[in-house]
Amino acid sequence: MTDSPKTFRVKSFGCQMNAYDGERMAELLGAQGLTPVADNEDADLVVLNTCHIREKAAEKAYSDIGRLKREDGSRPMIALAGCVAQAEGAEAKARSQMIDIVVGPQAYHRLPEMVADVSAGKRPVDTDMPALSKFGALPARRKVGASAFLTVQEGCDKFCTYCVVPYTRGAEISRPFADIETEARSLVEGGAREITLLGQNVNAWEGTCGGLDGLIRAIARIDGLERIRYTTSHPADMSDALIAAHGEVEKLMPYLHLPVQSGSDRILKAMNRSHSAESYLRTIEKVRAARPDIAISGDFIVGFPGESEEDFTQTLSIIDAVGYASAYSFKYSARPGTPAAVMGDQISREIMEERLAKLQERIIKHQLAFNRSKVGIDTQIMIDRKGRAAGQMVGKSPWLQSVHVETDAPIGAMLDVTLTSAGPNSLGGALRTAPALSSVEGVAA
Ligand code: SAH
Ligand code: SF4
Ligand code: F3S
Repeated sequence: MTDSPKTFRVKSFGCQMNAYDGERMAELLGAQGLTPVADNEDADLVVLNTCHIREKAAEKAYSDIGRLKREDGSRPMIALAGCVAQAEGAEAKARSQMIDIVVGPQAYHRLPEMVADVSAGKRPVDTDMPALSKFGALPARRKVGASAFLTVQEGCDKFCTYCVVPYTRGAEISRPFADIETEARSLVEGGAREITLLGQNVNAWEGTCGGLDGLIRAIARIDGLERIRYTTSHPADMSDALIAAHGEVEKLMPYLHLPVQSGSDRILKAMNRSHSAESYLRTIEKVRAARPDIAISGDFIVGFPGESEEDFTQTLSIIDAVGYASAYSFKYSARPGTPAAVMGDQISREIMEERLAKLQERIIKHQLAFNRSKVGIDTQIMIDRKGRAAGQMVGKSPWLQSVHVETDAPIGAMLDVTLTSAGPNSLGGALRTAPALSSVEGVAA
């Protein structure tokens, strides 16, 4: 028998879908009367909401569990949640005796029951994937920050040969339109001014209002909501209707994260990506025709099995052809159970590191060029954190750039600024105010 926990901490790793799930778990535990705390040391229950995408991410979960042991030999109740929990199920309990609960991404609405089971001396595991039942069982959204996540689609049917997501998150499912609209309205009532629609393949969303474009148009009608974003998209699901929305819906921000992974058709085929370098470039061209100022972001994997110098050179070429505003890049990580893990010609760590460094250098060059192209522009930023210097705050531009400004405006404020300087990772801005009369007329004191 263990005492029922009174305090808890949820720690999320990995993608935004996990961050969203982490928030919902915290809301659920809060609704049960548990109090959130900021430190593991103060928590009676620690939920590790894990990521399985690369080897390092999964190993991190187990080393974090080890560190939860306290100096006096005690430890909190520990729930392993997220994609490592889904992938390893009951085996996780064998790997670490410290794990009390194993709960997958589709089962976490059952956390309170499972916590009660632990108090009764059990070590429960639930990695079932009932279609969407968790959403109906979660408490309504209440107080949220100015920028909120909203999961609208889950799972993936694409089966890229390197990726664990189709196994940890299951088949593609779209949440019903009415549920999403209700959640979006309660987020806006709770203080959100920006909503990011989330899904492993968010642009495959379908519902009674059509595709993702229809959903965006419907959400855009909510008063008080000012910015809409969505992520992550698959190039094969980038419909003409969604592209058109980028040119027509004012609240839809000019930013598109569209992972390409490689610029070589041979590698794309081995990855089972279902797009070619050329079809990807054609999509980008259409998006830019609809919204010329759009910021394009991407994901890259270097060192996929069989990747030659020539293949890698083609990846550098597609980076130049697109001119990315930002990008995430990774060394290929062989994941057990995926087809690529058993492919021949695995690439050495040294070559991967060399290619990653070259690729990142190329991306930073384009990032800097993109940021510089915005200097002199008047725009709006949404404050999302404090800056390093006193009196400085950092906000997001429509293109998702970080902009530093001198202001005491609070988090969530929308400010009119002129972008005044640019580095590779952020810009500087100055508040835009109406010119004072004296300076206009040049009146001397
Ligand atoms: N659904 C999204 C995101 C998937 S995970 C998509 O299709 O783009 C985010 C990124 O992690 C992927 O885009 C890919 O670049 C990277 N990734 C996935 N599996 C990986 C692996 N085994 N090794 C290295 N990077 C990987
Ligand atoms: Fe993974 Fe590919 Fe699905 Fe993205 S589209 S989640 S990379 S299988
Ligand atoms: Fe990681 Fe699972 Fe997201 S593996 S990237 S947390 S879907």
